Amino acid sequence: MKKRLIEQLQKHLINNYNRLPVVLVKGKGCRVWDSNDQQYLDFASGIAVNNLGHCHPRVVRAIQAQAKKLIHVSNFYYIEPQIELARLLTDNSFADRVFFGNSGSEANEAAIKLARKYGNEVLGGKYEIITAYGSFHGRTIATVTATGQEKFHTGFQPLLSGFKYIPFNDLEAARTAISPKTCALMVEPIQGEGGVILPSDIYLKGLKKICREKGILLIYDEVQVGMGRTGRLFAYENYGAPPDIMTLAKSLGGGVAIGAMLTTEKLARSLTPGSHASTFGGNPLATAAGVAAVSAILEDGVLENCRKMGKYLHAQLTGLRNRFGFIKDIRGKGLMIGVEIEFEGAEIVKRCLEKGLLINCTAGKVLRFLPPLIVTKKEIDEAIKTVTRVLSKI
Ligand SMILES: Cc1ncc(COP(=O)(O)O)c(C=O)c1O
Repeated sequence: MKKRLIEQLQKHLINNYNRLPVVLVKGKGCRVWDSNDQQYLDFASGIAVNNLGHCHPRVVRAIQAQAKKLIHVSNFYYIEPQIELARLLTDNSFADRVFFGNSGSEANEAAIKLARKYGNEVLGGKYEIITAYGSFHGRTIATVTATGQEKFHTGFQPLLSGFKYIPFNDLEAARTAISPKTCALMVEPIQGEGGVILPSDIYLKGLKKICREKGILLIYDEVQVGMGRTGRLFAYENYGAPPDIMTLAKSLGGGVAIGAMLTTEKLARSLTPGSHASTFGGNPLATAAGVAAVSAILEDGVLENCRKMGKYLHAQLTGLRNRFGFIKDIRGKGLMIGVEIEFEGAEIVKRCLEKGLLINCTAGKVLRFLPPLIVTKKEIDEAIKTVTRVLSKI
């Protein structure tokens, strides 16, 4: 079955992903199974999507119940779970208003468009957006332009005009980059695809102060770090500097595709009827899943477990550092942990897969551990055992 499926894929799908040779067919909690019924411990979580693990009972029940009632109607009408999800997000964040899309890229597109619309109309013709080197904001032409990594730009030029990049964690660079045309500064509170790069203790507060002084907007892309990944519902809560606009996606729907752009009442006024839209954005099925996922994160001790298990995983990985000299650094927050090594990590990812552990490698040399936030100590011990076996043979 596996051979046949892989052959079919190579025939029918565009070859734009580097796939590992495994066909995954089912999942439960922190585990997935392949087409040969081989079991894997999933410490990649669909890249920070399955924060509640696979097929979380609350999410499954909500999807089943909603699928029987109403799957899609357009945003010309009021949609009950959409309203409830927006209420949950605004009650638990800095924001007053939400726009729903279907992905992280779409959420960031909405943030970019809102910043430009507000900049043009309210700030008097400002349109330029500053982002950080090493950032990742998506694959649409605007979000790939916002992404401060040349490798994602290659072949897609000309990119959108009106973007500028600064080094992450450098407040002076941010201050000097702002021009009379700048309307917003956009960063990930912790850079994910860039290699799990944490902000310094003063960085986000400093950015906020600069944005206030210069009268421009601060946008956080919390697509990867939001929804409990760092041990708080939103990563910015760790740093005491809320933004003006924030984007979410990935685990917001407990595995179902959804994205969201959150903002304040004042800014939201710029998006008048007809100015922005999304056919599937905030549809009944995705938002019902979202209500279940956010409620589970808030009510079921998930954040506390993330903080506790995050410390434990960090400590276990630090133990490996003493044993393997090629480990250069271990860094992260909550259950988003990067292990930087001296060489390309793809081979380690492949060997971990062969031994029943899914992890991922980003920025070439950073092994990224993103287990579900419901992970147990026993599962972490099992993963560490596998990683130790793999690293010993490298
Ligand atoms: C921080 C960040 N922003 C945006 C995106 C893009 O999200 P999507 O792939 O859902 O469009 C990603 C995806 O990895 C991300 O990590």
